[in-house]
Amino acid sequence: MAVRKLAPENMQPKSFAFSPETEAFADQQIAKYPPGRQASAVIALLFKAQEQAGGWLPQKAIEAVAAKLDMAPIRVMEIATFYTMFNLEPVGKYFIQFCGTTPCQLRGAGDIKKVLEKRIGDQNHVTADGTFSWLEVECLGACCNAPMVQINDDYYEDLTPENFDKLLDDLAAGRPVKKGSQIGRSTSEPFEAVNTLQDPSLYDGSVIGAWRKRFEETAKPAETAEPAAAAASVPQEVKAAKPTAGRPIESDVADTPAKRAKEGETPVNPADRAGAADQTKNTVVDQRKESGDKPAPQSSKSYVATPSKPEEGKVTPEAPTTPVAGTRPAQAETRRDGSESKPAVVVDKDNKTS
Ligand code: FES
Repeated sequence: MAVRKLAPENMQPKSFAFSPETEAFADQQIAKYPPGRQASAVIALLFKAQEQAGGWLPQKAIEAVAAKLDMAPIRVMEIATFYTMFNLEPVGKYFIQFCGTTPCQLRGAGDIKKVLEKRIGDQNHVTADGTFSWLEVECLGACCNAPMVQINDDYYEDLTPENFDKLLDDLAAGRPVKKGSQIGRSTSEPFEAVNTLQDPSLYDGSVIGAWRKRFEETAKPAETAEPAAAAASVPQEVKAAKPTAGRPIESDVADTPAKRAKEGETPVNPADRAGAADQTKNTVVDQRKESGDKPAPQSSKSYVATPSKPEEGKVTPEAPTTPVAGTRPAQAETRRDGSESKPAVVVDKDNKTS
């Protein structure tokens, strides 16, 4: 993109004032916005000022727009120099924007460019009679009808070197010209032959709602078949669901005095319980601590801690690791966290185990 800067001093007019028409247009645009937000009309006013100035924006026109909108001139200058739709240098009476983007190139834009260079010269150059100037631009959105140019506000499409040359002749001579496609196709219909959407019934209204009728006819057999299929899939004898089906299984705490009492077990002797709690009398340590294993996670469920032997910190060798016949079963068999607990072996003061 070329550097966008204001036209040289010698091209700039000494003054610029809004015409009555431009003034009325400006007031109408400003009225669209709330008080204090009149700057929102800046694009519209710059466009109108460009039109009044002959297709380009002199510095004085930019300053007039700034004054009208109570804006700093530099802010309006920023907008005028940013948008390529504002011309900062004089243009011809017919300002030609030539599309040089790929689709147009593939359809012969190069030949159109040669016509421009032959008849007008380099881009950004106004012919001596002030009739033409041209500028190469990016895609103008009419790729279906490539190659194309925009002349002032109108598109001219499906160009060939021949029809474009004639178009320029007609414009220069003031003769009426045809806008849009230069080969007679309507909008962007197929280029050579129309071979789709040709059924007349598409345009006489007779097919309106036809899709619904077809849909309903197709749906009918399915509707009648569905209930039969659904009935066949229902089992004749429905089994009653288990009460716990689909529910989380809950069970009592693994080992609590209440549970043991409920199961007919003799509650732990309070003296034994006190002895087990006394670390100095314990003969078995928590082996998980001894081996450095991580302790079992905290749980709201209770379990019996394995007593320890303070002097060795190991299971007493002479103590049997299996219950002696006639003794009570282990106090804890399964922990709620899933880990197995070992039978608690307690040695009382008479060196008896329990
Ligand atoms: S490429 Fe030329 S109009 Fe899109």
